[in-house]
Amino acid sequence: MHASGPIPVHIAVIMDGNGRWAKKRGFPRIAGHNEGVESVRDTVEACGQLGVKHLTLYAFSTENWKRPQEEVSMLMRLLMRALRDETDKLHENNVKVDTIGDFPTLPIEVQDELTDAMTKTKLNTGLHLHLALSYSGRWDITTAIKAIAEDVRRGTLAPESIDDQLVSRYLATKNVPDPDLLIRTSGEFRISNFLLWQLAYSEIYISTSCWPDFRRKELYEAITDFQRRERRYGMVSEQLQPGKRKPNAVQRFFNNVSGS
Ligand code: IPE
Ligand code: IPE
Ligand code: MG
Repeated sequence: MHASGPIPVHIAVIMDGNGRWAKKRGFPRIAGHNEGVESVRDTVEACGQLGVKHLTLYAFSTENWKRPQEEVSMLMRLLMRALRDETDKLHENNVKVDTIGDFPTLPIEVQDELTDAMTKTKLNTGLHLHLALSYSGRWDITTAIKAIAEDVRRGTLAPESIDDQLVSRYLATKNVPDPDLLIRTSGEFRISNFLLWQLAYSEIYISTSCWPDFRRKELYEAITDFQRRERRYGMVSEQLQPGKRKPNAVQRFFNNVSGS
């Protein structure tokens, strides 16, 4: 991949379409989840090599608990196995594993595998991988509001000091910059309760590939698309790189007016 622009510091991914990938092939849904693990491996490896600092993968949402019990337990078992099989390799590749979400709601065996992976990799300095498990944006914001309210009640936080940055520090993603790029696979145009606060100014890329088909090549396409975007954060184009751009017709007009 040729670097024609900045590599995103933080990429967040809604890994969707495992079930449809399997159905198209006449397989049970779990076969899609299983194949999706390969895409996770490929994406993590590619992000590490490209120098992406943070990768947040939406692996299981708060709402996913409402799926048939059998699918939920198969997903939990798959997650445990993947963690067990992949942790050594992740560690070798200097990846730091973390999780965001309502940790205590996960089965204890999953909690144990996650704790092992996080402990083993905690000093790694390469890609920081955040697995969103039993996570939702509303859960995150609600949890933050409770903690803020508690600190106000205890007198350790003054309501006047609550601002945008303080709220960010109470979220599960504290110390992590907001995602630059959000990728959703399988052609769905939804956020599905992912990082609601943090995605305020993320660039969104929708891939038509189902997650099991989303590999290095598709990731490169997403990043190349991202590199062509202009991120204005509410401003106008001309404010972004003052002095670097050639004045356009509108600017030349105003320059002439003010000079005359
Ligand atoms: C994403 O694939 C994986 C999880 C949500 C755990 P899906 O299981 O949602 O697959 P589709 O959307 O039904 O195809
Ligand atoms: C979003 O996918 C959650 C994850 C990828 C973990 P879903 O398949 O659950 O989202 P909806 O139901 O189509 O919105
Ligand atoms: Mg889905």
